[in-house]
Amino acid sequence: MSDMTRSLLEDLKAILGASSVTADAERRAAYSSDETLPWFDRHYTADVVCFPENTAQVSAVLKYANERRVPVTPRGAGTGLSGGAVPYMGGIVMSMERMNSIIEIDVENRTLTAEPGVVTSEITKAARERGLLYAGDPCSGDISFIGGNVAENAGGNKVIKYGSTGAHVLGLEIVLADGSILTLGGKRRKDVTGYDLIHLIVGSEGTLAVVTKVILNLLPLPARVTDLFVPMRSVNAAMRLVAAISTRGGVIPSSVEFMDRKSIQNVKDYTGMEIPHSEAAAFLIIQMDGMDRRQLWIDVERVGDICVELGALEVFVAEDRNARDRVWRIRRLVAEEEWTNSMALLSKEDIVVPSGSISEFLAELPALAERHRAEYNAYGHIGDGNIHMTIFPMSDMEPDDLKKASNAMCADLYRLVKRLGGTLSGEHGIGLKRREYMNIFLDEAHIALIRRLKDAFDPNGVLNPGKIVEG
Ligand code: MLT
Ligand code: ZN
Repeated sequence: MSDMTRSLLEDLKAILGASSVTADAERRAAYSSDETLPWFDRHYTADVVCFPENTAQVSAVLKYANERRVPVTPRGAGTGLSGGAVPYMGGIVMSMERMNSIIEIDVENRTLTAEPGVVTSEITKAARERGLLYAGDPCSGDISFIGGNVAENAGGNKVIKYGSTGAHVLGLEIVLADGSILTLGGKRRKDVTGYDLIHLIVGSEGTLAVVTKVILNLLPLPARVTDLFVPMRSVNAAMRLVAAISTRGGVIPSSVEFMDRKSIQNVKDYTGMEIPHSEAAAFLIIQMDGMDRRQLWIDVERVGDICVELGALEVFVAEDRNARDRVWRIRRLVAEEEWTNSMALLSKEDIVVPSGSISEFLAELPALAERHRAEYNAYGHIGDGNIHMTIFPMSDMEPDDLKKASNAMCADLYRLVKRLGGTLSGEHGIGLKRREYMNIFLDEAHIALIRRLKDAFDPNGVLNPGKIVEG
């Protein structure tokens, strides 16, 4: 251990207590990665990991680190997919896992106040027990922390109806790089008193402040939820259906998820599971929820009829918990299979295009893949125009060649996304993984403004340095 690391460790022990800091090599490694599949050219490792237990301790650590110019990378559960929690410049990883209490559920105001280290599904469960809905639903919700969801503005399966995490945030307590503590917003649903700093912090990936408390909006709990599993004759027909659910069906579903034939094939190969019509070109999961059971059933029938009319091979209706779990298990397994089997990737994507351009986007993909000698599967939150793709080289490649091929393919892909009016990331964030492509989507003045905002919040550049924009 270097003298600098030793003194950092001793100083943090004096601030937090010996049991709240570690420089143990194994733990430093464990707290220095996220779920970004093997991607970075090297491993970045923290010098020390600390575990504050309250806002005052977060503030004291930041004040210390800011004065000494030590980088601090805040960390949730490590489920991120862009390297947001990876300590690019070493220094301190600040794990929020001990700040894990639900502070209050206020039924009358329909709010829930939580510390950042609460697991998202615990928030959903606690709200449900009080007859209320927390509508944030990231795919990693059983593991991810609400603080991480706020930092990345996590999306997931219910954005089409309820919005990404930011849509549910009414208030935040944050600590700035210099240790000052601010409260933004509160249990209120309107607020134009000053700039909307809440929604600047949401999605800022821990580069502007550390979130120490979150006040969330809760909704009435829908009385009934129904899922349709719909194998479709063609991808184009599936995309026409996605639009028709709302334009003709008059319904805003709570989810519209997509899986292509290859994604389904991967799940079959991975699990041996029987999936009906598994040779179909595309599969949709359409979820509808509502307060009035009769009305919901009328909507389900109407949407079911439109599915058949537009090319569904069959419409499976899942109403009870078991049937619904079986449907969603297929969707979850698409991501799980990739995590287990994908090592040498050209890319794992999170692009977004306007809904009306999805067909064109998907139609251009085979030619793009062929140009780059790549194979891919596509799936994701098609109702939001948010498509995940996992892209592999057709043959084995040395790491350097893989990186070059990946850069060339991504640049080509992103030009297509840009031309269609789309963007680089819908929910996984920029982090380290996508920062070199920011200039394809944002012009110089926009990136310069991001840098100036970063300077205003964190003039010494200690908070999660190196993320979102380079240098
Ligand atoms: C998903 O939609 O499944 C996740 O955002 C991406 C993943 O884990 O593959
Ligand atoms: Zn997703």
